Amino acid sequence: MRLVVVSNRVTIPDRHEKVMAGGLAVALREALEQRGGLWFGWSGAVSEGSPTQIRQVQHGNVTYAVTDLSEAERQSYYLGFSNRALWPLMHYRLGLTEFQRSDYMGYLGVNRRFARALAGLIKPDDLIWIHDYHLIPLAAELRRRGVTNRIGYFHHIPWPAAEVIDALPFSATLIRTMAAYDLVGMQTEVDARNLIGGLVSLCGGRTDGRRVRLGSRETSVQAFPIGIDVEGFRKLAAASVRQAATPLRATRESLGERKLVIGVDRLDYSKGIVQRLEAFGEFLRNHPEERGRVSLLQVAPPSRSDVPEYAELDRQSDEVAGRLNAQLGEFDWTPIRVVKKAYSRKALAGFYRRAQVGLVTPMRDGMNLVAKEYIAAQNPADPGVLVLSRFAGAAQQMGEALIVNPFDSHEVAEAIRTALAMPKTERIRRFERLYALIAATDIDWWTRQYLLALSGDKPSAETLAAGGLRKEPRAGARRAGRGEASAASSPPSEAGVGKMSAGSRGKRSAAGGSHLALVRP
Ligand code: F6P
Repeated sequence: MRLVVVSNRVTIPDRHEKVMAGGLAVALREALEQRGGLWFGWSGAVSEGSPTQIRQVQHGNVTYAVTDLSEAERQSYYLGFSNRALWPLMHYRLGLTEFQRSDYMGYLGVNRRFARALAGLIKPDDLIWIHDYHLIPLAAELRRRGVTNRIGYFHHIPWPAAEVIDALPFSATLIRTMAAYDLVGMQTEVDARNLIGGLVSLCGGRTDGRRVRLGSRETSVQAFPIGIDVEGFRKLAAASVRQAATPLRATRESLGERKLVIGVDRLDYSKGIVQRLEAFGEFLRNHPEERGRVSLLQVAPPSRSDVPEYAELDRQSDEVAGRLNAQLGEFDWTPIRVVKKAYSRKALAGFYRRAQVGLVTPMRDGMNLVAKEYIAAQNPADPGVLVLSRFAGAAQQMGEALIVNPFDSHEVAEAIRTALAMPKTERIRRFERLYALIAATDIDWWTRQYLLALSGDKPSAETLAAGGLRKEPRAGARRAGRGEASAASSPPSEAGVGKMSAGSRGKRSAAGGSHLALVRP
């Protein structure tokens, strides 16, 4: 069965790639290469007029088929409806949600155009996997054109309760199109439960748990918490100690013996960057003995800068960092460094490894892969501590982190202090459990698990447990995960981690816990 992946952006692999592809792109490429397949979506470029042309590039047994957007499409479909209406709404930011009918029309228009082009490329046996909120109505458009293949959707960001979704004009019409999918994947049980609730209360669907019936169609809604390439990241971080890439070496030299707290996020208001800077300032004010002994490095590559709310965040973060540095800094110590550029995965792995605290405090996040990367990068003999927002999907799995409410700057400030002062035995205990969890549910696990379910087989209760999931949704993120992170057992020394992870692609069942054998097709 050939795999067809569809996502908003498609990056055609390039041997001269400067910034290495992210974990998800690598995993999807791998899944495509294993089966042979097609990856369809926007090239990322804008061209004049109506750019309906599809460019196809063949790499081994994978075909990349991309199309440009017109400037009007980029404005309405991408910047407008996707990122000024759906993005804030899905992140519970009703006050920032800007709805324009013309944007919605543009969004539907691009989905229709993608469906038209894609329908001509699909073969009868193809398994179709569509990604993210830009493309919600794509399956309905494909069905309208007679496509009967199994079609799955994965939603990478949060899905809020029906009352929030309901504020969006035409929301019932939009989410009803979900019924065109055979399988809808969500990051967490809470998201899955919210979507099912919306399909029932806003669209009149009927449900018997995980399946929703709307008209003649039945759709399965399940949680598949996304993972990272744990082994790849661990290797990059371990190598950084020896190789010391330029930015890492410079960081080491400029920090000296000082401790490092790190944050890495796209410059996006959902990530809580400004609130995090304020919390770090509060930590330094409340604990003056720490001044001069620790710095915060916030890496924040700019994103969606044409959207006014992002431009405002750019200004605000500069203002807050500048004010705190001026108030709290010394001639030989800068408390906060905000670096607004993207680094390679290799450089990031080195930064994570050097940092005693990983500060991951989004106001709301689908999963947050930085939390997992930070753990993967740690030295098992002397690991750092993860401070994690209870509103990141990752908190549902990673209960051994210090879980905080990012709206409470005092709580975040105290968690930073607790993390910096945590005894080594306690750090190792938490790290071991977190590492075992992320290794058992890495990106390879996620891809296989999803595709297994999409091709018709149901994941077992045991495989759900490996993901830190239970059949019943949890009441709240704060309770979530504690004591459940040991779904897989991994020996946590550097050598031991290596041994366990060496089997993580393809033969993990022997080394990582027999329950994982169940998810291997
Ligand atoms: O996680 C949500 C998401 O929209 C992804 O689909 C995308 O890769 C990432 O954020 C970056 O967004 P953009 O493509 O708008 O720069």
